[in-house]
Amino acid sequence: MRSDIDRVLITQEQIARRVAELAEQITADHTPPKMDGPAQVTIVPVLTGAIIFCGDLIRRIPIAMQIGLMTVSSYPGKSVASQGAQVLAWQLGDLRGRHVLLVDDILDSGGTIKLVQGLLREQAVASLRTCVLLRKDRPAAREVAVDYVGFEIPDVFVVGYGLDFNNYYRNLPDIVTLKTTVLERGR
Ligand code: IMP
Ligand code: MG
Repeated sequence: MRSDIDRVLITQEQIARRVAELAEQITADHTPPKMDGPAQVTIVPVLTGAIIFCGDLIRRIPIAMQIGLMTVSSYPGKSVASQGAQVLAWQLGDLRGRHVLLVDDILDSGGTIKLVQGLLREQAVASLRTCVLLRKDRPAAREVAVDYVGFEIPDVFVVGYGLDFNNYYRNLPDIVTLKTTVLERGR
């Protein structure tokens, strides 16, 4: 797996530092006096890519928390460009009156975030904020409203820390690019 890596873009140490900063900001935004009523949040990670990021993030947010799940696919199989976002499954519970934080790994074409934001707004939530670990440097990504961004990255295909190619490499601790030969042979 290691020999498939072309370049390390963001190290696990850099990720850990930034995740701690994001968690601090999110905690403050969901706690009085910034928020009405008692501190509460429902975290909705977009599966599967957001699982690692979300696991690290939520353990640093020390407020009353519920979790809802949403599975969206846009890069099926060996794709390295979005094929259009599609909701595969959800398990959200009752979100009425909840302060919801949507969490995803990466903002690329924006299709996924826009789709899920629309679905969550239909649930009569008290508030909806969105956090992405990575945002690609492309106009479409900047057009989508998000509240928290971990890192701005170039418009390249990345894997690791939850992000996959053909459902592999999610367990790499750093965020990396893959060798062209790997992308061409499809892992
Ligand atoms: P969007 O809908 O085009 O914004 O893409 C968002 C989804 O596509 C993310 O949740 C990822 O799962 C996946 N994705 C986008 N870019 C990459 C990438 O560079 N590597 C791996 N997955 C990606
Ligand atoms: Mg995803």
